[in-house]
Amino acid sequence: MREVNVVVLPGDGIGPEVVAEAIRAVEIVAADAELAITWREELMGGCSIDAHGTALTDDVLAACQAADAVFLGAVGGPKWDTTDPAKPRPEQGLLGLRSGLGLFANLRPVKPLEALWDASPLRRERIAGTDLLVVRELTGGIYFGARGREGDRAFDTCEYTRGEIERVAEVAFEAAARRRAKVTSVDKANVLESSRLWREVVTDIGTRHPGIALDHILVDNAAMQLVNRPSEFDVIVTENMFGDILSDEAAMITGSIGLLPSASLGTGTAGLYEPVHGSAPDIAGKGWSNPMATVLSAAMMLRYSLEAPEAADRLEAAVAQALNEGARSRDLGGELGTTAIGDRLVELLGR
Ligand code: IPM
Ligand code: MG
Repeated sequence: MREVNVVVLPGDGIGPEVVAEAIRAVEIVAADAELAITWREELMGGCSIDAHGTALTDDVLAACQAADAVFLGAVGGPKWDTTDPAKPRPEQGLLGLRSGLGLFANLRPVKPLEALWDASPLRRERIAGTDLLVVRELTGGIYFGARGREGDRAFDTCEYTRGEIERVAEVAFEAAARRRAKVTSVDKANVLESSRLWREVVTDIGTRHPGIALDHILVDNAAMQLVNRPSEFDVIVTENMFGDILSDEAAMITGSIGLLPSASLGTGTAGLYEPVHGSAPDIAGKGWSNPMATVLSAAMMLRYSLEAPEAADRLEAAVAQALNEGARSRDLGGELGTTAIGDRLVELLGR
């Protein structure tokens, strides 16, 4: 048995229910892969604000820094919504983890299953063949630049350094080398200075990867092309906020944001794994949420941080099989609840 440590942050809203189902499925494939996972559960987000007055305590951050991986549900909810800059917000926990763990590359794969093509708001023929990966820069840009408010004036700053762009571009080119060898860099170089540097640096990194085709498109055009011809993208690399927006848009190509996993990686093998959907406070506690995005995030964790790629493959295959056989939660127009989906996956994994 190989032993690994994972910090679990179920968070708020539907976070705890989807995480619980995912852990059930992971336990099965991990045991078969001779992997003993010690799960250490901690508070982060709104639940941590309630308990400690802050979304991320120093102790929890330290536990995450010491772990092999961090597995997260979702954070936030109307209870903690505020525009008062002096009050704590759940999202600060997530941003604190990203910067505290140095997780500069966020990977969000989008590959709609044929069985779900009719669940997408796009027509079948548009979606056919779509298999893309958004590589979003995660610790720079306007999310982390200087900001402030003075009376009736407020500002946020978008800043990037060459080094920050280089390292995320590297991740994108390396991913493309294992896929269809194409990188599309998204920026707003016709307006923003930080985008002009972005374009210059990505072009430089591209010269080190002569086998990979590189093109640059403006973010407004990218938003349009994502719904017009999604299948033509392979790897999309972009800065923090553009990536936030485009990855939600890309998620809808699959028909539901309830299916999208993500991995946030830094320089080592440790990483943070979470579904792209949020805490969905409107359905929290009803047992309706779809745990599949969380199960798929766990698969990414097994692959990228826990060195158990076969276990990852099995989780992904089980989700695909369940969907192909018609398992549908409410986000996909069906009736199965959170535990029913979890039961189905456990059954398909042979338990
Ligand atoms: C995401 C979320 C976060 C982000 C929020 C919750 C801060 O939308 O992970 O995409 O904007 O990065
Ligand atoms: Mg987002």
